[in-house]
Amino acid sequence: MKDFIAGLPKCELHLHIEGTLEPELKFELARRNGLELPYATVEEMRAAYTFDSLSSFLTIYYEGMKVLRTEPDFYDLAMAYLGKAAEQNVRYAEIFFDPQAHTSRGVPFDVVIRGLRRALMDAQARLGVRAQLIMCFLRDFQAEYAMATLMESLPYKEWIAGVGLDSDERGNPPSKFATVYERARQEGYLLTMHCDVDQDDAAEHIRQAIEDIGVDRIDHGVNILEDQRLVEVVLARGMGLTCCPISNGYVTDSMQAEGIRKLMDLGVRVTVNSDDPAYFAAYVTENLIALQDTLQLNEHELVQLERNAFEIAWLPRQLKDAYL
Ligand code: HPA
Ligand code: ZN
Repeated sequence: MKDFIAGLPKCELHLHIEGTLEPELKFELARRNGLELPYATVEEMRAAYTFDSLSSFLTIYYEGMKVLRTEPDFYDLAMAYLGKAAEQNVRYAEIFFDPQAHTSRGVPFDVVIRGLRRALMDAQARLGVRAQLIMCFLRDFQAEYAMATLMESLPYKEWIAGVGLDSDERGNPPSKFATVYERARQEGYLLTMHCDVDQDDAAEHIRQAIEDIGVDRIDHGVNILEDQRLVEVVLARGMGLTCCPISNGYVTDSMQAEGIRKLMDLGVRVTVNSDDPAYFAAYVTENLIALQDTLQLNEHELVQLERNAFEIAWLPRQLKDAYL
């Protein structure tokens, strides 16, 4: 079964490029930029990855990305992920990036996006992996900063498929960004947002995302099972959920495999993704293997998960059909 999963053509839709920064590259970028790291070795750095909640993860995640400074840094970051993706037979990826995590520490927006974009173009030409960018707003910053970031992105609109919302969800509901999302839609962006698995008010957040904001899909979103009415809306609209089993295991007590199983049985377009693979020590293949092992998924069900992903991908119909 592992060989079957390894060989399966894949589509990854929930992947934070800053979450693919492996310790080895962190050391390399720190050296290049003349920065000191608080760890002597790669092993020491990995040993410090001890998070048990979204907020403890985010602290390490934001600290880690401070080594990213220049256009070649962002190029190398994305190229490293796309090389790994090619090895795992990922044929298409939609990649989140967090511009505010960089502009807030003085790295210009255009440095970030030009580096990422150049890697995407090179990866398509050299590795045959297609990818698009999704710009995420940080929900623990003010909505006005998200709006300013949206405006800053407009000259690069052709390089960005849509917008997302990530970072600390507690106290930062979807409704906070309703105006930003409305403007993003008017500008032609497709819409997604995180509705994390460890939230007390998860179902209400999902309701706001779907009914008040009208997102095209939801990142995570397993908690939709708490409200049968929302499950029906998602089914009726054919909306997709981008689930991340191993990530779930870090921020809750489990991979939420039973919930994922239930959603699959209901016919919801669930997908399996890696989220922040450098920190959770698992890329998409390892996530599929872990879920298969827990749920005893058969080959047909594994193929269905990837079909779901290509089906909900933000690609023109013709291109999707070429993958399906
Ligand atoms: N949730 C919220 N914010 C994030 C995540 C996540 O899983 N990964 C990177 N930023
Ligand atoms: Zn995520």
